Amino acid sequence: MRLNFNINSEIKELELKSNETLLDVLRNNSYNEVKCGCNEGECGACLVLLDDKPVNSCQVLAMSVRDKEVKTVKGIGTLFSPHIIQKTFAQAGADQCGFCSPGMVIASYSLLKENPNPSYEDIVEGLDGNLCRCTGYVKIIEAVEKSAELINKKN
Ligand code: FES
Ligand code: FES
Repeated sequence: MRLNFNINSEIKELELKSNETLLDVLRNNSYNEVKCGCNEGECGACLVLLDDKPVNSCQVLAMSVRDKEVKTVKGIGTLFSPHIIQKTFAQAGADQCGFCSPGMVIASYSLLKENPNPSYEDIVEGLDGNLCRCTGYVKIIEAVEKSAELINKKN
C-alpha cells in the first residue's frame, strides 16, 4: 500500500507493508540517519520525534503515524545548517563511531526542550534509553551541558 507521511516537514507518499515499523519505512526510503541497533526498543539508535515526542521508531507501526509529524535528526539540523546540539556534539568529541549520535541528539533536543537547565542527573536520566558503546558517556553529557548553556545564552 502507499500512504502519505510527513517527514522533516515534507509530505512523502511512501510504499509500505501493513506490518512494517516506522524504522523499516524510514530506512527503506533512504532516511539512513535513523539507525537500527537492537530493533527491540532497547538502544535508542532509532529514536525520532513523533509530534515532538521522542519514540523508538522500531517500536512504532508505520501505518499508525500517517497523521503525525515525524522528525529525524536531519529535521533538527543539517550538515550545512546544524543545530547547536549537533555542533556541540561534534566540537566536544561526543561522537566516535557516530552510530548512536542521531538518537543521542534527538534525546538531548527533547530533554532541553522540556528542561532548559538540566542537572547532571537530569541529563543522565534523559539519555537513559540511549546506548553508546564508544564514548563512556562523559563527552556526551558534557556536550549536553554545553548545549544547554549555549541555547540559554542565545534565547
Ligand atoms: S533499534 Fe530501536 S531501540 Fe534499538
Ligand atoms: S559513538 Fe559509537 S556508539 Fe556512540
